[in-house]
Amino acid sequence: MDSPSLMPFFSFILVFAAIPVSLSLPFVVLHGIGSQCSSQGLKNFTELLSNYSGVEGYCLEVGNGVLDSWFMPLEKQAGIVCEKVKKMEELKKGYNIVGLSQGNLIGRGVVEFCDGAPPVKNFISLAGPHAGIASVPLCGSAIFCRFADELIKSEIYSDYVQDHLAPSGFLKLPNAIPKYLEKCKFLPKLNNELPQARNSTYKQRFSSLQNLVLIMFEHDTVLVPRETSWFGYYKDGAFNSTIPPQQTKLYIEDWIGLQTLDKAGRVKYISVSGDHVKISNSDMRKYVVPYLQG
Ligand SMILES: *[C@@H]1O[C@H](CO)[C@@H](O)[C@H](O)[C@H]1NC(C)=O
Ligand SMILES: *[C@@H]1O[C@H](CO)[C@@H](O)[C@H](O)[C@H]1NC(C)=O
Ligand SMILES: *[C@@H]1O[C@H](CO)[C@@H](O)[C@H](O)[C@H]1NC(C)=O
Ligand SMILES: *[C@@H]1O[C@H](CO)[C@@H](O)[C@H](O)[C@H]1NC(C)=O
Repeated sequence: MDSPSLMPFFSFILVFAAIPVSLSLPFVVLHGIGSQCSSQGLKNFTELLSNYSGVEGYCLEVGNGVLDSWFMPLEKQAGIVCEKVKKMEELKKGYNIVGLSQGNLIGRGVVEFCDGAPPVKNFISLAGPHAGIASVPLCGSAIFCRFADELIKSEIYSDYVQDHLAPSGFLKLPNAIPKYLEKCKFLPKLNNELPQARNSTYKQRFSSLQNLVLIMFEHDTVLVPRETSWFGYYKDGAFNSTIPPQQTKLYIEDWIGLQTLDKAGRVKYISVSGDHVKISNSDMRKYVVPYLQG
């Protein structure tokens, strides 16, 4: 039986019923080295992103914060975040990741390694050392930094350093590639660099991202070379010239699905002014917020 007079009423209901479906997913922030979720800067960052996007955001801590960010091996850090995201009811339907510096490698570890985790839709990377770094991140004179310096001066690819200094897991010295491949415990695995140990699950999971937003900072003084933010890197053997992501073997042989994502138009290569992770509010609105709003 027709009842035209009720149609506007039903349309009204439908419009409202549709809203929860289009509601954006929450996001998590993964911080970099020497930082922690309880710092005012990181609280502001997470809150500002929430304010701009209208979406709930959570900074996920790894262990005790600053110290563990330096000294806990990255695979273990990723394992901790993996367990956290699996337990969070808020993330059950999926979520987005905002990575800061080293936090991006933890985030990718979660995407690639974490069994039974909720799906990650958009991955927004601010200054991620995705292809490695050729120099140690800036530290300072605090006691743990001096300890870190001592570790670095000793053998970076020794088992001891690999087990006790997080950034050693992505230090890729272009003049020591064989050693790196043999001894570095994190990045070769994360990037599926080892022919005998490639895991197609990592590729399948990483290439399931809806968007991968790679933000490079033009005046980055921490990442050497800064092109690593886009998966670009030095050519093997040389410190003096970098190649763009599309010319790396990781891309050409599609070890983790970067090429697959790129060909599908899902990789955004963004360059912003500023030093390491110092994103301006306007660039945040332009390049980060839209991906948090679904
Ligand atoms: C955090 O934000 C408040 C106001 O929103 C500001 O006064 C403060 O300086 C910020 N702190 C940091 C460390 O960015
Ligand atoms: C976010 O919005 C709240 C409420 O308007 C405000 O109190 C807070 O200062 C804002 N945070 C930042 C970092 O701007
Ligand atoms: C590949 O990685 C997945 C996810 O961590 C794991 O479950 C699987 O056992 C791995 N496969 C091999 C052959 O190592
Ligand atoms: C880079 O370094 C290599 C050896 O260290 C040298 O042969 C080459 O000429 C250098 N290239 C540039 C562009 O400086």
